[in-house]
Amino acid sequence: MCLQVDYFLLSVLSCFKDGSIAKETHHPNGTLQQLPHIIIIGVRKGGTRALIEMLSLHSSVAAAQNEVHFFDWESHFQRGLPWYLSQMPYAFPDQVTVEKTPAYFTSSKVPKRIHQMNPDIKLLLILRDPTERVLSDYTQVFYNRLQKHKRYQPIESVLVKDGEINLGYKALNRSLYYVHMQNWLQYFPLESIHIVDGDELIRDPFPEMIKVERFLKLESQINASNFYFNKTKGFYCLRDHGRERCLHDSKGRAHPHVAPAILQKLYQFFHEPNKKFFELVGRTFNWK
Ligand code: A3P
Repeated sequence: MCLQVDYFLLSVLSCFKDGSIAKETHHPNGTLQQLPHIIIIGVRKGGTRALIEMLSLHSSVAAAQNEVHFFDWESHFQRGLPWYLSQMPYAFPDQVTVEKTPAYFTSSKVPKRIHQMNPDIKLLLILRDPTERVLSDYTQVFYNRLQKHKRYQPIESVLVKDGEINLGYKALNRSLYYVHMQNWLQYFPLESIHIVDGDELIRDPFPEMIKVERFLKLESQINASNFYFNKTKGFYCLRDHGRERCLHDSKGRAHPHVAPAILQKLYQFFHEPNKKFFELVGRTFNWK
């Protein structure tokens, strides 16, 4: 038995499977920090920010603001669950806590670590067309380098080497969804992982969010009026208690032009891996 209540600190100490002790720190206003009940595990550039913002429309959800990188960064993981807990938002006891770290999906050590913390945790994975995801990945790195006044390579020279798809380009690997999904399925049943269709979330977010609410067994609360299309941004934005807001400018940037022949090669490259992924999850997606 490992639950102790420290009335002086208003905190609950509880033990975890790895032997470490984590604190549920209670705030005098009745809120507390809890380990996440839900984790958005990825994929990078899949629409993870949009998903956590949309989920936060629900009054029963408390979301961590930053990407925590607990399970994938050794320097964080070594600090143990108490540190992880300290990164969580203060939530009311009837709320569920969610964090998102898109890099979890493609990190092979993460599924086991999350399973050790909580084998019953609910996982959300948002995926989009693998080719689009690669272009989005490139665009993000491009802008990061531009900001730091670093050199950047044109997209076509990154994608193609000696006339063939450049297998050494890391962003391609991140779009090989079946490879990563296999790791997750070694630890979690498919029923614990809800896949959000990232292309659909862009096109029409409300139906995707209904499915998310259902999977999380949340009372149906998010509604169509929470979303409105912003023509200037070219994306849906959020309306919450009369307040309207769009995602940051870094979300929804134009992608570079790629020669149609190269794009075709990319689509072909992902054809087989996509098929394997569909078989793995028993579901298809409208990817080119
Ligand atoms: P692009 O900027 O390449 O278009 P992540 O948050 O995981 O980094 O994903 C970023 C992607 O979220 C964006 O990629 C964008 O396409 C997508 N997205 C989905 N819904 C969005 C929304 N309502 N507003 C802005 N971007 C959205």
